[in-house]
Amino acid sequence: MKRIDHIAIAVSDLDAAEKIYRDVLNLHWEGREEVPLQKVITSLFQVGESRIELLQPTAPDSPISAFLEKKGPGLHHIALEVDDVEAKMARLKAQGIRLLNDQPADGVGGSKIVFLHPKDTGGVLVELVEKPSY
Ligand code: CO
Repeated sequence: MKRIDHIAIAVSDLDAAEKIYRDVLNLHWEGREEVPLQKVITSLFQVGESRIELLQPTAPDSPISAFLEKKGPGLHHIALEVDDVEAKMARLKAQGIRLLNDQPADGVGGSKIVFLHPKDTGGVLVELVEKPSY
């Protein structure tokens, strides 16, 4: 693993949450980005080499809607950057770790992502991120 890419926080009121991270904690705000596949709009804050991502659902059948209903706003997942997400996926599968998507999915900023099943990672939802190469 190269670094923590981001920490994602589920929110039901993006405007209110942005005020906390931007105006109270004074983190550098990078803007919003919609991730249609996950049915979320994200708001991105840079913290050193990592980011905090606020996630607000854009549809009732978004995974974040289900999370908010069950647990309320709060920490949703941590994301670790890897060089080759497909190679990591093959290795995890061989280790018996369940993955929430069979193929790498499209994440923020053209990244390729996969989620590990939280039951196989001690209750924490872990995302692996491969950044696009330019
Ligand atoms: Co993420």
